[in-house]
Amino acid sequence: MFKKEVYIDRRKRLKQKLSNGLIIIPGNSESPMNTPDNPYLFRQDSTFLYYFGLDMPDLTGVIDLDNDKEYIFGDDVSLDDIIWMGPQPSMQELSKEVGVENSMPVKEIPGFLKKARDKGQKLQTIPFYRAENMIAFAGWLDIHHKQVNDYVSEELTRAIVEMRNIKDNYEIEELEKAAAIGYEMHVKAMKMCKPGVYEREISGVLEGITRTHDGTISFPVILSQHGETLHNHYHGNMLEEGKLMLTDAGAETNMHYASDITRTIPVGGKFNERQKSIYNIVLKANNRAREMTKPGVSYLEVHTEAARTIISGLKDLGIMKGDVEEALNKGAHAMFMPHGLGHAMGLDAHDMEALGEDYVGYDNEIKRQSVFGFSGLRFGKRVQPGNVLTNEPGCYFIPELIDKWEGEKKFSEHIDYKKVREFQGFGGVRLEDDILVTNDGCRIIGKRVPITIEEVEKTMNS
Ligand code: GLY
Ligand code: MN
Ligand code: MN
Repeated sequence: MFKKEVYIDRRKRLKQKLSNGLIIIPGNSESPMNTPDNPYLFRQDSTFLYYFGLDMPDLTGVIDLDNDKEYIFGDDVSLDDIIWMGPQPSMQELSKEVGVENSMPVKEIPGFLKKARDKGQKLQTIPFYRAENMIAFAGWLDIHHKQVNDYVSEELTRAIVEMRNIKDNYEIEELEKAAAIGYEMHVKAMKMCKPGVYEREISGVLEGITRTHDGTISFPVILSQHGETLHNHYHGNMLEEGKLMLTDAGAETNMHYASDITRTIPVGGKFNERQKSIYNIVLKANNRAREMTKPGVSYLEVHTEAARTIISGLKDLGIMKGDVEEALNKGAHAMFMPHGLGHAMGLDAHDMEALGEDYVGYDNEIKRQSVFGFSGLRFGKRVQPGNVLTNEPGCYFIPELIDKWEGEKKFSEHIDYKKVREFQGFGGVRLEDDILVTNDGCRIIGKRVPITIEEVEKTMNS
């Protein structure tokens, strides 16, 4: 937990952004894996963590704007709980640790909310993504669970997104820790990536590294010699010479801040010429994107420049052809880079997407585009100091997409399908760094994981 002043200040700033009503921020509960006493690893809701800091189940934070009061609802542990879990601080002590004056048992919530409603107070909460929370909320208000969305406030959601999108120094320090663990994971993957090793042997070690740092993975490890499948969670292949292994993996610290890093490396430690040709295009797109990211520039422009770099590079190899700008505007690059350049990162690897992707990444000025090749961009708006984003261009040869588009002769003025066929079985390359926007540009968070051909080969062979 950060010191209590951090949470006091965040709640104060949230209050200043809103006029009246009762803000209800439900924390998460344990989620059973198969039996109630055998739950998944507990993960607190990120917005609850941001404003109320407490990392334990079955808590709800309330801010009463009309009466300027704050509450945490949660139960003190019983003797039975103590027998199984050991002694725990009281709810009152825990609430004080995050600067909240009032704490009340969970059973008081329905009466408390009813009183507020009867007095005409506006109840507002954030979007639900867990059924348990939705059902609990409906129960408190004695409404059908479908009606809970009537209490989801766009004004509140937007205010929270505005705050969480700008990381403070405490958060940046945590993000640096997550990056350091990510560095260790990727260097380990580089050293283990040898023919005959199974993907799962490496992915298991990477996950283990996060646990040794008292954290966990920030999303399920993507590690495959079939990197053309963007989110490949199958780890059953034996690594083969001549293939590229794509590892997209990051850590979550014990404070729940994330890293999200991708490297693509040659099985056995030496890139062949064909691999180098595609790899260096993606690396150029990554570097170009970082160089142009600075306050005031939209990430849509940066994405566009990365896509342009991919098209130009593929044109040099004879894979794409025709006018670069025309290919770009039509979205012909989507064949090779179907996803966006990046997304916000923070307490969530895809930060705040539970609150609504477009609230996070778009605004009144910059709207999400509908053309494939741009539509997958999760963050398109102008960047500001304190934004944390991923920079993750890629280039993939996806057999099913090639078959479909070739069959339709789609963009045949821009794609040389005969040449594309020569890259059948190539896989895919993605190179992802996490960046922090500064006052005059941006910087990579933490030490950059080896990325040039020389750095990667040196690391793999040392
Ligand atoms: N790790 C998923 C992503 O890069 O967005
Ligand atoms: Mn990633
Ligand atoms: Mn990412």
